[in-house]
Amino acid sequence: LNNSTAPFLHDIQDDVQEEMCKNVIQDLSQYGLCVLDNFLGSELGGKVLEEVLHIKNEGALRDGQLVSTKGKAQKDLKTIRSDKICWVDGKEHNCKHIGYLIRKVDTLITRANKMLNNGKLGQYNINGRTKAMVACYPGSGAHYVKHVDNPNRDGRCITSIYYLNIDWDTHRSGGLLRIFPEGWCEDKVADIEPLFDRLLFFWSDRRNPHEVQPAYATRYAITLWYFDAAEREEAVRRYDKERLSLEKSSTST
Ligand code: OGA
Ligand code: OGA
Ligand code: MN
Repeated sequence: LNNSTAPFLHDIQDDVQEEMCKNVIQDLSQYGLCVLDNFLGSELGGKVLEEVLHIKNEGALRDGQLVSTKGKAQKDLKTIRSDKICWVDGKEHNCKHIGYLIRKVDTLITRANKMLNNGKLGQYNINGRTKAMVACYPGSGAHYVKHVDNPNRDGRCITSIYYLNIDWDTHRSGGLLRIFPEGWCEDKVADIEPLFDRLLFFWSDRRNPHEVQPAYATRYAITLWYFDAAEREEAVRRYDKERLSLEKSSTST
């Protein structure tokens, strides 16, 4: 290559990613949510789906839990959420492509964070995340009632969901994610179909109550929650303190 050609060269993948970052920044700030279709492409998306089906066939999925159950019986939980889940970090056997998906979402979030002048997406400084939650709604009306992912400052600031449902027919199979954005659009909702190779981001706090409407076919998704550094640090300190005082009170009785 000679130097007169070099300035015209672009890495196409890099350009695509930059465009995605701009969308994420723009849509999160304007709407509090962002949808990106064809995130991995059908071949890689298909590999991720294969790995999820493998996890399910191994029998590794369990009933979804609530962060705070406060004595609710397991049968009541099922009326709140009836998905089957497990947590993976992408390094497990047979999770190579899930690992690839996780790294690709991480890169997007990190790059979007850096593209902003103040280095912050929203008011956040993102420095970590949960493992990936693989979720299956097994049809027959499985759902998740209206809730907020992070109502009490547990550190999670962005919810990211990757959907895996080829030829999903919402009219026949339901399973819509309905978001009820707070504040900026009275009486409007955002209905997101859980379509194959679709990636969704939204603020995890009280700005975005949402529900999964009853699904009448098996519905798969992979969710990551990203942490804001300061909010997470404060939450972990709070949890440590609560745990210590619990331990104290149980040893003194
Ligand atoms: C919830 C929830 C995911 C988690 O129960 O509302 O978002 O991190 N759970 O356990
Ligand atoms: C959740 C959730 C939405 C979806 O797991 O907290 O809201 O569309 N999932 O699967
Ligand atoms: Mn949720």
